[in-house]
Amino acid sequence: MTVHFIGAGPGAADLLTLRGRDLIASCPVCLYAGSLVPAGVLAHCPPDARIIDTAPLSLDDIVAEMKAAHDRGQDVARLHSGDLSIWSAVGEQTRRLRALDIPYTMTPGVPAFAAAAAALKRELTLPEVAQSLVLTRTSGRASAMPPRETLATFAQSGATLAIHLSIHVLARVVEELTPFYGADCPVALVYRASWPDETIVQGTLADIEAQAAQAPMERTALILVGPALAAEDFRESALYDAGYDRRFRPRGAR
Ligand SMILES: C[S@@+](CC[C@H](N)C(=O)[O-])C[C@H]1O[C@@H](n2cnc3c(N)ncnc32)[C@H](O)[C@@H]1O
Repeated sequence: MTVHFIGAGPGAADLLTLRGRDLIASCPVCLYAGSLVPAGVLAHCPPDARIIDTAPLSLDDIVAEMKAAHDRGQDVARLHSGDLSIWSAVGEQTRRLRALDIPYTMTPGVPAFAAAAAALKRELTLPEVAQSLVLTRTSGRASAMPPRETLATFAQSGATLAIHLSIHVLARVVEELTPFYGADCPVALVYRASWPDETIVQGTLADIEAQAAQAPMERTALILVGPALAAEDFRESALYDAGYDRRFRPRGAR
């Protein structure tokens, strides 16, 4: 038997991979991470599946459920919101499974930052404006930031920032970033991207706090910062330039 970790996507039930859907449908046990995993995703579970919300459980309890399924010879679908590779607490679960010699797989999901960019209808990297995206967060109760991973360090690059788990400290984020990006730098707050109550607030570092006060958001929101969020006068990518010689469209072939 195998524990299948599956990225359940940012909220909309149809932002789930086909592989994830099929694995969920094949597993008699499903452990899911609380209210962030939509009911529409759980609907793919077999009718008689054992479906457990792990929000009130400890890591010991969760691993005990996996071990019990393993002993019964049953596969487990383990669902986390967004993608598994960032802030999903998967690392500690897979470490326990390796210690117990229980096999597992990982299936990626659509991360919140991608859903937020889609909600904004924007690309987060633009030629000569921003060519890097920093996925970061600020310190929280559950995890402190490593000392060198400060907002100021990342801000020095001018890259687009996608700041997670930090909407409650928006004022501090604005204060720390303004010296690097300037008060007129575009900011977007995206609350519950892809859910029916998705909300977008856009402004600049100078006015985003006032804008946010009009549409209070909590927890499940991303702070996106950087010039790419509003740039219109950027250079076009060379990739589709008629004069650009590239592998699948060699100039000599015309
Ligand atoms: C514990 S992290 C999970 C990240 C997730 N693994 C991912 O791939 O995006 C939770 C944070 O991600 C962001 N987040 C998750 N889902 C979101 C959504 N639908 N809309 C906006 N932000 C979201 C928020 O910043 C939230 O505080």
